[in-house]
Amino acid sequence: MAGKENTEEKQSKQQIPLITPYQLGPFSLSHRVVLAPLTRQKSYKYIPQPHAILYYSQRTSPGGLLIAEATGVSDSAQGYPNTPGIWTEEQVEAWKPIVNGVHEKGGVFFCQIWHSGRASHVDYQPNGQAPLSSTDRKISGQIVLPNGKDLADYSPPRALKIEEIPHIVNDFRLAARNAIKAGFDGVEIHGAHGYLIDQFMKDSINNRTDEYGGTLANRCRFPLEVVEAVANEIGGERVGIRLSPFAQYLESSDSDPEALGLYMAEALNRYNILYAHYVEPRLVTTFEPVATNKSLFPMRKAFKGSFLVAGGYGREDGNEAISSDKADLVVYGRIFLANPDLPKRFELNAPLNKYDRNTFYSPDPVVGYTDYPFLE
Ligand SMILES: Cc1cc2nc3c(=O)[nH]c(=O)nc-3n(C[C@H](O)[C@H](O)[C@H](O)COP(=O)(O)O)c2cc1C
Repeated sequence: MAGKENTEEKQSKQQIPLITPYQLGPFSLSHRVVLAPLTRQKSYKYIPQPHAILYYSQRTSPGGLLIAEATGVSDSAQGYPNTPGIWTEEQVEAWKPIVNGVHEKGGVFFCQIWHSGRASHVDYQPNGQAPLSSTDRKISGQIVLPNGKDLADYSPPRALKIEEIPHIVNDFRLAARNAIKAGFDGVEIHGAHGYLIDQFMKDSINNRTDEYGGTLANRCRFPLEVVEAVANEIGGERVGIRLSPFAQYLESSDSDPEALGLYMAEALNRYNILYAHYVEPRLVTTFEPVATNKSLFPMRKAFKGSFLVAGGYGREDGNEAISSDKADLVVYGRIFLANPDLPKRFELNAPLNKYDRNTFYSPDPVVGYTDYPFLE
């Protein structure tokens, strides 16, 4: 009888595509449900805090992949209150117990390395300097200041001089090295959502006339230089990149997102990196999906490494993405934030906790952070 139950259990597992093993380069994953990078703004003074140990370990399952929140690569990278960094020794030391917590439960943990570019304000910048970007055109609208309360206009950025670009590439390289020092299994380069790397790629922003602007190849030069430097530093099998060619966050849009997404997918093949992580075209200016007939499939077919997709996924369409080979892994943001045991819930088809968006970015170290309930 017990034997029969085991067989039935196995069969029902096999029927859940999200709960099937996957070999992600050197990493043996036991399922396809990935924790999305989620900024939580609880790293006081840009230093990860001990409360993140519990948060990430709650969301760890044996053989599950987690991507840490956007983590600044240098003192010019910040643009939100209380986001972590990984450019100082103190930050590296602070990450170690958090990474350990994930490893102790058998998880695989990547650090998302990030530079906000023009999505910043002089108050976040060393010596009150102008935020750095591909352009000197500012974002309209307002930004929350480092005190977490007051709003101000985005500061006008300064377009990086051509001779400064290698320094920023080097910041990403050093951040990747630091991530490995902190114990992370790899890094995800944040090339999405209107931050610095996206600010080079998208033609609504990049108005350069040098070899980093104009043609698609020129606009993708800086992103690919970052990829190359990071892959040379830590090995391509430890490197992923996140891209959102279709998104228009922070006024960062492209006139031909299909061409951009495809160009990057093909160019990335030169560096033998582990994965490409694309945000679905249905996410445009908010995290709420909109109807679209656009698809990531051409990029999925073009890219030779593992393909991750994110954006508005639930259990059913996540299973469909895996079973129809649209993706190798599915990345979950808000529902993983609110359901620390999401892979288990998907396996059992259990109901989900609802997320509370009021606490997404609050500095509280517990409420809306580590107090979402597990299944009984
Ligand atoms: C609170 C919150 C913080 C986020 N922080 C990041 C981040 O640090 N880096 C990033 O690439 N995306 C970030 N995102 C986007 C998510 O990774 C994800 O792509 C988005 O929530 C859509 O997926 P979902 O529908 O599964 O939530 C954030 C989203 C939310 C809701």
